[in-house]
Amino acid sequence: MKIAGRAMRTIWRTADGRSVETIDQTRLPHAFVTLRLASAEDAARAIREMRVRGAPLIGATAAYGLAIALLEDPGDSGLERAYQLLVAARPTAVNLRWALDETRRAVAIASVGDRAARAFACADQICDDDVAICRAIGEHGLGLLRAAAERVGGRRLNILTHCNAGWLATVDWGTATAPIYRARQEGIDLHVWVDETRPRNQGAALTAYELCEEGVAHTVIADNTGGHLMQRGLVDLCIVGTDRTTARGDVANKIGTYLKAVAARDTGVPFYVALPSPSIDWTLTDGLAQIPIEQRDAREVTHVTGLAEDGRLYDVRITPAHSPAANYGFDVTPARLVTAFVTERGVCAASASGLAGLFPERAPGTH
Ligand code: MRU
Repeated sequence: MKIAGRAMRTIWRTADGRSVETIDQTRLPHAFVTLRLASAEDAARAIREMRVRGAPLIGATAAYGLAIALLEDPGDSGLERAYQLLVAARPTAVNLRWALDETRRAVAIASVGDRAARAFACADQICDDDVAICRAIGEHGLGLLRAAAERVGGRRLNILTHCNAGWLATVDWGTATAPIYRARQEGIDLHVWVDETRPRNQGAALTAYELCEEGVAHTVIADNTGGHLMQRGLVDLCIVGTDRTTARGDVANKIGTYLKAVAARDTGVPFYVALPSPSIDWTLTDGLAQIPIEQRDAREVTHVTGLAEDGRLYDVRITPAHSPAANYGFDVTPARLVTAFVTERGVCAASASGLAGLFPERAPGTH
């Protein structure tokens, strides 16, 4: 995807091959600042502080963090220490554990001297695979968007998305945004309703930013607006991402996703989830009972950050000084509210059999 007209990925190796650079997403949309990650601690901190965020990018960053740690200490204890540090950085996105497991497996049989190189090669592969997965989600989702555009008979197609499951959340393309970018390339007339996504405002800050850079028509809305728009026939379909989806199809995604799915079901609006296979947790079946939900600092709810007229960023309090606040990062949308998954292997029902049909080699009981 493009920034100021230049195509780039969200994470890349530095010239010396010993670290990576990424975009500091806490500075967007007001400043484009890159961040060098030169240790496992740097990578874990960047994930914890959400300088990098979005399930696939969290996974890619963690894999590089492990590789960088192995440059310093390639022994078993160094590997284990870095793994534990990184896996604890955030709890909900299963891509974090998945990418670390892939990388640890890749180095397990290597001699100690080869471990760092093997881990870097694995992290590079995770990134390349993520791009291919997102591109394939784009192709399969394009079919859905084309059919939806035909259904609305030539008028502009209105799509609602929540949080940022875009280019910035992945290595390239995004998951929920890939079909949107492909549809626009194909000349489909579309417009995106962007949920602001309080408290961290990933929609207002990040999705809006990348849609601006890609020249996609969009409107930022307050989180409570989606249901109203759906009742008025102003949303033709919803598409969101996921941080962890169970083997039976329950979807953990950014807080507020569930409410959009409820409104979509009530109003008959299709609700799609863009689902890359590394976001499937095949070990879990019951999303509500089993998916760990991140709780973050209450300050993210009590304060907002914004650009003032003087061109500087300020944090301002919006609640009474003594009101407690709760900050749940994710919610679980039960499979029954999801119209379909858009995966890299095609579109399927949000159910155990739907997922098993596309990923027979991974489905529980088959390996
Ligand atoms: O807390 P965040 O910003 O990491 O949450 C991101 C989301 O909820 C995305 O929708 C999800 O990671 C899918 S990204 C393709």
